[in-house]
Amino acid sequence: MRIGIPAETRAGETRVAATPETVKKLAAKHQVVVQSGAGVAASNIDEAYAAAGATIGSAADAFGCDVVLKVRAPNAEERALMKPNTVVIGMLNPFDAETIAAMAASGLTAFALEAVPRITRAQSMDVLSSQANIAGYKAVMMAANAYQRFTPMLMTAAGTVKAARVLIMGVGVAGLQAIATAKRLGAVIEASDVRPPVKEQVESLGAKFIDVPFISDEEREIAQGVGGYARPMPADWMRRQADLVHERAKLADIIITTALIPGRPAPVLISEETVKAMKPGSVIVDLAVEQGGNCPLSELNKTVVRHGVSIIGEPNLASLVAADASALYARNVLDFLKLIIDKDENLAIDREDEILKATLVCAGGEVLRK
Ligand code: NAI
Repeated sequence: MRIGIPAETRAGETRVAATPETVKKLAAKHQVVVQSGAGVAASNIDEAYAAAGATIGSAADAFGCDVVLKVRAPNAEERALMKPNTVVIGMLNPFDAETIAAMAASGLTAFALEAVPRITRAQSMDVLSSQANIAGYKAVMMAANAYQRFTPMLMTAAGTVKAARVLIMGVGVAGLQAIATAKRLGAVIEASDVRPPVKEQVESLGAKFIDVPFISDEEREIAQGVGGYARPMPADWMRRQADLVHERAKLADIIITTALIPGRPAPVLISEETVKAMKPGSVIVDLAVEQGGNCPLSELNKTVVRHGVSIIGEPNLASLVAADASALYARNVLDFLKLIIDKDENLAIDREDEILKATLVCAGGEVLRK
């Protein structure tokens, strides 16, 4: 089988879907074609891929393979380079109906890795987790960089410096890593989430959980989420959360927001009123900016200063840690590939497999996910 790894073309995308480490494993059984320069932005040079057993070629060579490994969905130009029935694997955005329809029209067999179910067998393929972990780390790094004070408490001959207070909104994979990273920097941390099991996780990392009590069975039920993901909370709970968060935000130096609800705009958690009440020189990193933002003042791809607060709207933080983000992503992809290759090293797609069923967004000209 021929497996192609093209260079990513989307603005700001520095990751690559295979590394010399994963290519070496694939090249033992298959012909691997890497587009020249595909890994350069992630510190993987052509020579390293060649040494791992790949052939270095053009974009047309890589897209012309039977299986194409991508980070982002192929654009129109890239789709035109693929023949019908090419298998494409990547973070194809299962909620982007337009792109999925276009991939279906090109006759592609496309797997969107974001839709991997959160079951034990699929953990090693969970791209949302591997990339969110990196984003959570980098968010703290960016915040500390933009913040004009120290993060840890320091006692010096010139006096004592207070530790920074960090507020984390949304404690999934990114939020947990943000807590762990801020903790290593010596910050004092508070965190909020809707899902009840998060409280214990937050406390085990040495942070304080901002409890917004549930006052009805309906609230309690919705807060359980579905499949590990949050659901939109009732307006009344959101109001009570906003009131509490407003008070905590006044004391915070850094706020990192990560709250997402799959397939919907991100919930607004830090209002303009709250930003106004924050201390001058504070920093907000809005990891949900691409989904509309957890703060209405954040702007995609920009750092803006509003009411004396720096608001960072970088949408793709994993791309800023390109080498490790690619290394983890490439291993996710390699594990996923094992599901569609049989013992004779041929393509074999079992449409009844729970993971394949969830991720297959189009095949044979048909859109398979709404
Ligand atoms: P996510 O990226 O979809 O959302 C981030 C966080 O925002 C979530 O914790 C969510 O509850 C929270 N959130 C949503 N609305 C909110 C609001 N109004 N206020 C405050 N917080 C809000 O979530 P992610 O990172 O994908 O993880 C969700 C959960 O799934 C985590 O508990 C994670 O540990 C779990 N998980 C389980 C896996 C498995 O069992 N294989 C694999 C990966 C994650």
